[in-house]
Amino acid sequence: MFPTTRMRRLRGSETIRALVRETTLAVDDLIYPLFVCPGTDVQNEIPSMPDNCRASVDRMIEDCREVRDLGIPGVLLFGIPEHKDETGSEGWSDRGIVQTAVRAIKKQVPELLVITDVCLCEYTTHGHCGVIRDRKVDNDATLELLARQSLSHARAGADVVAPSDMMDGRIGRIRRALDGEGFADLPIMSYAAKYASAFYGPFRDAAGSAPQFGDRRGYQIDPCNADEALREVELDLEEGADIVMVKPALAYLDVIYRVKSAFPVPLAAYNVSGEFACIKAAAERGWLDEQRIMLEVLYSIRRAGADIILTYFAKQAARVLNGESGAR
Ligand code: PBG
Repeated sequence: MFPTTRMRRLRGSETIRALVRETTLAVDDLIYPLFVCPGTDVQNEIPSMPDNCRASVDRMIEDCREVRDLGIPGVLLFGIPEHKDETGSEGWSDRGIVQTAVRAIKKQVPELLVITDVCLCEYTTHGHCGVIRDRKVDNDATLELLARQSLSHARAGADVVAPSDMMDGRIGRIRRALDGEGFADLPIMSYAAKYASAFYGPFRDAAGSAPQFGDRRGYQIDPCNADEALREVELDLEEGADIVMVKPALAYLDVIYRVKSAFPVPLAAYNVSGEFACIKAAAERGWLDEQRIMLEVLYSIRRAGADIILTYFAKQAARVLNGESGAR
């Protein structure tokens, strides 16, 4: 009780604050998402995601070298295909854009961990995450294509596959497919608790993957639910997920906390495009201190319980954490 107890004693200098700091953030907790598109020498800024680009493989490799040099352990790859069709066939073709990008990274920047997003929405004309039957995504018919897509990523040299589609049973189906083709050691990072969120807006602009009719509420989780997220995580773990993810991160810190409390497994959180865009937009107007907000947000995600953070801030945060002078 005051005056015997004074909480301010441990806040008097940066040295003592650092000594009692409970949460750490390290460059090797971060994963940087990348958008790869066809062509050569292409680097298109994404208007709603400042500092992020859609890049052709050659330019993406330059980015990968920078990511590696900053000490960031890995990238998460999204593909923007040449052509979209009803079943998203470029998504599961060995000649697809992601498969080509993976082969290039593994050849030219082999130290970098390559995680591939497994989902059909970037590759389908209708923009949904699976095969459409009667204006709905057909769960069971989609599983086969997700397994094919995962296998083609594995053959190209992916280090981890990350299914983000939210179909039921996909982790088990993908695990069996990988095991059957000699990829028993390839980990699956499951987007286990993925919410039907408006925070994906900028990403959908970047990937041209907004649904052309309806929305994703028939397969992604209702933002009002958290118990349901725990069930999703439990099922994915039973089916063989090695790392589970909560997405988005900031509006779902309670979910991150609950998942980490319930399951002692590696937990990732995706600090998504809309969360990034909000901060960038406010900072551009001079309304927020971008660097401090970025760190506060990343620390909050770690404090909630995430081991790994997927974030468009990865390079910017790494520069600060590496102590680069003039880092922003
Ligand atoms: C694909 C996918 C999405 C994101 C990651 N994988 C979009 C969606 O579900 O519509 C969003 C990432 C972000 O907003 O940064 N299904």
